Amino acid sequence: MIKIEAIVREEKLEDVKSALNAIEVNGITVFQVMGCGAQKGWTETVRGSQVDVSLLPKVKFEIVVSSEDWEKKVIEAIQQSAFTGKIGDGKIFSYDLRSAMRIRTRETGYDALN
Ligand SMILES: Nc1ncnc2c1ncn2[C@@H]1O[C@H](COP(=O)(O)OP(=O)(O)OP(=O)(O)O)[C@@H](O)[C@H]1O
Ligand SMILES: [Mg+2]
Repeated sequence: MIKIEAIVREEKLEDVKSALNAIEVNGITVFQVMGCGAQKGWTETVRGSQVDVSLLPKVKFEIVVSSEDWEKKVIEAIQQSAFTGKIGDGKIFSYDLRSAMRIRTRETGYDALN
C-alpha cells in the first residue's frame, strides 16, 4: 500500500477532487493546512516579537492506494489538475504504508481499500 499526500492551492480543491473522482479512487481525506515552500516566505516584527507571516493557506489531500500503478495514476491526476505553472503550485509526496483496516468489517491490507 502506498500513501500519497499532495499540498495544492486552495482554489484547486474542486479541480483536484474532480480529477480524483474521475479516476475512481476509493477514498480521500482533505485538510485545510498552512505551509511554505522553497521561497521560505519572510518574518516581520509585530509588537516586538518576530512573527512568521509567511505561512499561506493550502489544501492537503491524502489518498491511500493499493499499487504502484494506482500511485502513478493518482500523482498524474493531481499534477495535471493542480497545475498553474506559477510558484506555489504545491508538492506531491508518496511513501510505503504499513497497514490499513476497514473498521466496519475488520478487513486489513488491500481488502480494506477495495
Ligand atoms: N519540503 C516540504 N515539506 C513539507 N511541505 C512542503 C515542502 N515543500 C512544500 N511544502 C508544502 O507545499 C506547499 C506549496 O509549496 P510550494 O509549491 O511553494 O513549493 P516550492 O518548492 O516552493 O515550489 P515553487 O517554487 O513552485 O513554489 C507549501 O505551502 C507547504 O505546505
Ligand atoms: Mg514556493
